[in-house]
Amino acid sequence: MKVLYIEASPRGEYSYSSQVANAFLDTYRAENPDHEIEHMPLFDMDLPAFAAEGANQKMDNIIKQFTGQPPLGAEGEWGGVLAEIDRLKSADKVLLSSPMWNYSIPYRLKHWIDLVVQVGASVMVNENREYIGQITGRPLQMVLASGSLYEERFPLETDGMKTDFQRIYLDHIFRFLGFTDIRLIKVQPTGLPGPHLDEAIAKCKAEAEDSAKKF
Ligand SMILES: Cc1cc2nc3c(=O)[nH]c(=O)nc-3n(C[C@H](O)[C@H](O)[C@H](O)COP(=O)(O)O)c2cc1C
Repeated sequence: MKVLYIEASPRGEYSYSSQVANAFLDTYRAENPDHEIEHMPLFDMDLPAFAAEGANQKMDNIIKQFTGQPPLGAEGEWGGVLAEIDRLKSADKVLLSSPMWNYSIPYRLKHWIDLVVQVGASVMVNENREYIGQITGRPLQMVLASGSLYEERFPLETDGMKTDFQRIYLDHIFRFLGFTDIRLIKVQPTGLPGPHLDEAIAKCKAEAEDSAKKF
């Protein structure tokens, strides 16, 4: 059994999402001492490049998929794409912790998403031209932190400036990949330090410990 832990905050011990994810992992390790945990600290590791070559290969591979040709092999930047998809596929369970940055996600997490979300590799197209995510049968535990408080629903136009594209985008992109069992711990609002925040973090850690026992 392998858990892939994707950590999207660069703030280390100051990160609330990482603190709660670590509480989750401490309990998970205690419950499952023989399980492997692969840690991907996205800001402290190299990710394969995905620029002009990769983007052109992506579009080429989509045409191949739609026209029934064999997929692209592991050449150039596409090699990095396939390696990251393999890494994700090698996991039986996925834990993702992420901050909200500018109502969405940090760019390093978007970089990883732009690598692993690929029609013709991690998402296939069927005869009805429907997208079928290939990363199935794995639970995803998300731990998402934000400075302000957001309701857990689809964003509304009336949300004005405070619109949550973080949760809804991550939920959407992982469903596109094939995930259906998506669990969420929201750490919010983290903006103002003080006893209220300490209490909220302690509650989130307890929730994480409980969730880890059922993961
Ligand atoms: C670059 C940056 C952008 C941010 N943008 C938002 C935002 O749009 N909305 C919000 O509620 N909080 C925002 N915040 C606050 C963070 O979401 C908050 O500090 C959260 O705890 C970060 O997660 P972490 O503690 O795991 O790093 C931002 C923080 C940073 C550093």
